[in-house]
Order: sequence, then C-alpha cells, then structure tokens
Amino acid sequence: MSKTFYVTTPIYYVNDAPHIGHAYTTIAADVLARWHRQRGESVWFLTGTDEHGQKVLRSAQAGGSSPQEWADRLVAEAWQPTWRDLDISNDDFIRTTEERHTRRVQTFLQRLYDKGEIYEGVYEGPYCVACEEFKLPGELIEGEGRDAGQRLCPVHRRPVEQVSETNYFFRLSKYADQLLEHYAAHPEAVEPESARNEVVQFIRQGLQDLSISRSSFDWGVKVPWDDRQVVYVWFDALLNYITAVGYDASEPELREKFESTWPADVHLIGKDILRFHAVIWPAMLMAAGLPLPRKVFAHGWLLVSGEKMSKTRLTGIAPAQLTGYFGSDAFRYYILRAFPFGQDGSFSWEEMTARYTAELANGLGNLASRLTAMTERYRGGVIPSPGEPTEAEQRLGELAARVTTNADAAMEKLDFYGALAAIWELVVALNGYLTEQQPWQVAKRDDAASQQRLDAILYAAAEGLRVLAILLHPFMPRTCTTLWASVGGPEALGPLAAQPLAEAARWGRLPVGARVVKGEPLFPRLPDESPATGA
Ligand code: ME8
Ligand code: MG
Repeated sequence: MSKTFYVTTPIYYVNDAPHIGHAYTTIAADVLARWHRQRGESVWFLTGTDEHGQKVLRSAQAGGSSPQEWADRLVAEAWQPTWRDLDISNDDFIRTTEERHTRRVQTFLQRLYDKGEIYEGVYEGPYCVACEEFKLPGELIEGEGRDAGQRLCPVHRRPVEQVSETNYFFRLSKYADQLLEHYAAHPEAVEPESARNEVVQFIRQGLQDLSISRSSFDWGVKVPWDDRQVVYVWFDALLNYITAVGYDASEPELREKFESTWPADVHLIGKDILRFHAVIWPAMLMAAGLPLPRKVFAHGWLLVSGEKMSKTRLTGIAPAQLTGYFGSDAFRYYILRAFPFGQDGSFSWEEMTARYTAELANGLGNLASRLTAMTERYRGGVIPSPGEPTEAEQRLGELAARVTTNADAAMEKLDFYGALAAIWELVVALNGYLTEQQPWQVAKRDDAASQQRLDAILYAAAEGLRVLAILLHPFMPRTCTTLWASVGGPEALGPLAAQPLAEAARWGRLPVGARVVKGEPLFPRLPDESPATGA
C-alpha cells in the first residue's frame, strides 16, 4: 500500500466569516494538492473548522444564538461557499463538533490519561481568548488609553483574562529533549528556517506542562473521566488531523485509510500558530506513540495597510470582494505570485490590478487569443503540421522542459512563487516568439515554404499553450480548463486533470488536426467601476 500525500490547512475558527488570510493558506494547500495529483500521486487534502472554545462561544452569544447553531450557519453560509467559489478541491471537511471527531478526541485523551501523561492540578495565569492561549506574564504589554491599567495580549492588543481553575495538565515538559532531538535529526520538519529557529529556541528555554481542560464553561468535548471539564480547544483542534483520517477507527477500511495517510506530509499553517503545531502537537503524538508529521510549514502574513489582517480586529477583506471583480483564478494567481511563500507581504488593490492587466490579460490571455484567432483565420481552426523545426522552435521546446523541471523543483520546496516565476518564463518566451516570427506577415506570402513556416509557428505556439495549460492548471483550474479546450486538448488528449506533469513538456504531443476553439477571453478587461474602497 503506497503512502498517500496528505496535506492539511489549519481548521479555522468559526467566530466569523473567512477573509483573504484564510484563503491564502487554503489556496496554497489546494495548489499543492492539485500539483501532486497531477504528478499521479494519491493525495488527501483536508480542511475544516474549529468550533469549540470560548472565542466561538462568545461570538455566538453576541450574535444571539447557541454555539452549535452559530457554527452550523457560518459553515453552511460562509466557509463552505467560500471554498466552493475558490475551487478548493479538498477531499474532506472536518468540523470539530462532528461525532467522528469528538469520540476520537475522547479516546486519545483517555489513552494518555491511562498512560500517566495527564494529571490534575491548579492553573493560575493570564489567558487570551482571541488566541485561545495561556500567556506568560512576561510577554504581556501594558494597556494605554481605554485599556490603561490592564495587561494586553501582544498579538491582539486586547486585555487578557485571569484564569484560576483546577484542571488537567499534559506532561509537555518531559518532551523537550525528545523534540530537540527530533528537529536536529529532521531539520526539514519545520520550515522555513526562521520558523525552525524560533521553535528550537523556544524549546531550549524549557517547556511547562500544559493545562488541557477548562471547567468554567462547557462548549467543548467532555473530558471522558470527568464531565465537569471540557477539553482545551487547541488540544481538541490539533487532533483533527488524525481523527479525520480514521485514527482509532473500528471499520477496517478506515483503519487502512489511517495507515496509508498518516503521518501528514505537510501541515500548512500561518506563523501565528507555529508553536501549537511544532511543539504541542508533536509532543501529543509522542505521548500517544504515533508518528510525527513530516513537515510543518509556517507561512507569513498577508498584510493590509501594513497590518496583519484579522477577524478579531475586523480588518478582513472577504475573498468575494476580490473574486467578484477579478475572478477566482486571478485571485489564486495573484496571492501566490505577489510575494514568496514564507515571507510577509502586502495585499494591494493597485498591484493586483497591475498584475492582472500585465501578466494575465496582456500576457497569458492575449497569447491564447492570438493563437486561436490566427489558427481560425489561416487554418480553419485546425492545428497544422509542425514540419521541420528551426532553432527557434527547438529553443521553445527546451525551455518548456526546463520550466517544467524548475517548477516541479520549486513546488517540492513549497515555493509557489518560484514555480509561477518559472512557468511565466514560458509565457513571456511564447509572446516573444510570436512577436519575432510575425506569423501575420508570413501568412501574406503564398509560396509553399512560407505556408509551411506558418504551420510550424502555429503548431509551436499551440504546443507552448498546451504545456502552459497543464503547468498552470493547479494554480488556475478554471482558466486552464478553458485554455485546454481552446487548443483542442480534451478531444485530442483527454481531460486536463489526467495529463501527467512528467510528460507535460514532451514536445509534439498535440496531434496534428486537433481543433482549436475560439472562446471568451481568458481574462476579460476589468470593469471600470472598481469596488475597492482604498484597500
Ligand atoms: O488559529 N495572513 O484559526 P484562525 C496569512 N483554529 N494567513 C492568515 C492571516 C493573514 N493575515 N490571517 C489568518 C486558528 N491566516 C485555529 C487553528 S489548527 C489545528 C487550529 C490563516 O481562524 C493562517 O493560516 O485564527 C493562520 O494560521 C490561520 O488563518 C488562523 O486561523
Ligand atoms: Mg487567529
């Protein structure tokens, strides 16, 4: 049984609707999943929602509904429709209020309890509900103005709450050395390097045992041996990565699923939740005797006007605000092309408009419409014979092969930005090729040699577009499906998703006689009315 490539996103809090920060992680995971599928691998892509805890409970209360109704409504009306609109191809969607999850959380916890990994104690200290995290007094900042005299969470700049409760503790402290050994032996397990350094430094300072239950509210999974307590929301949430793929399943198919899927190949997360994923989560797995995830990749912030966009601070831009104007694929493209994955970067309406026009409409879109228009006009819409390739066509073929190799290598490193940059070399080269070869001039000459030359140029351009449709499909699934149809791909070579990456660049795959289809422009001119309000 071969190992499935298993990629996850965080499960997002349903305190509010998604903004483009959540879309960023989810789109990256989707592109990665699609890329691996197109490599011919078996892939499992999981996303979902984190529904327990005080943060969600309080939003529900403020909204005047029960937490379950609140979560149901947000999932059905905001989270799932957003992922549908963005063509997210997740294989499963886990909600932490589902029975398959809560039951397995209880089993996991009971096992740790039975092994002596959990004990009862008293917790006293500051807690940030927006982070759902216990804080150390030393990391808090002094409030000013309205918050004068209070101590604030450094992330949310909101007052922390003092918690004093009897609850259950997980013996996290005893795993510090084992974690350090693990990261020394597997440096690739936390990326980028800056994230790994932060984690290692944090563990070196020593770890404290972690309070993993709460008794002052009841919106959570009940502690199996003490029903006055609910499981700490992060302990519950992290377990989604195994509960969703069949941890502790009794059904044979599900057990097999777990064996072939776990450990995750990549947990994609934002750097806000790095410690949960690279300290607490692996320690929980160590305590349970389960394999550790192969990689946690913590990407940077999407900033708007220099600040991290946030639900809690109401600075979120809804994905629909952008997709309604630019289209979903343009947004998927821009968000991964704007700055390297792993670094912080700004979202800007102006930059997105500029890239849309230069790279998508005038770059890729124009290339496709020129090719289909000329093939229609000069060859009745039929892909002509390649004839004898000259040096220019050979160079294109070599470039296509190089670009495919480079893009694949970049994707292996989760360098979406680098992969797009590599693929765009081919877009630019093809546009340059047409400008240089001037097929519209060659077409004016009636001699046989010129007409053969025209055939060769049209064929080469169509081949280039065929390769681009395959390489860009994981990034822009809708546009590339149209592009694929426009070069006659479906009839000649079958569905786009079935085109293996390894053969994408084999020059000459497009059969002579394939029919081009002249459709709508891939990237229409943007409406004059911009709905942007200074974003
Ligand atoms: O933390 N830039 O959920 P959450 C980039 N439920 N990414 C951003 C972002 C921004 N401005 N804002 C949010 C939780 N994200 C927990 C996770 S997992 C077991 C539990 C993305 O709704 C990024 O992936 O606060 C970040 O880590 C995540 O949303 C936080 O989502
Ligand atoms: Mg958050």
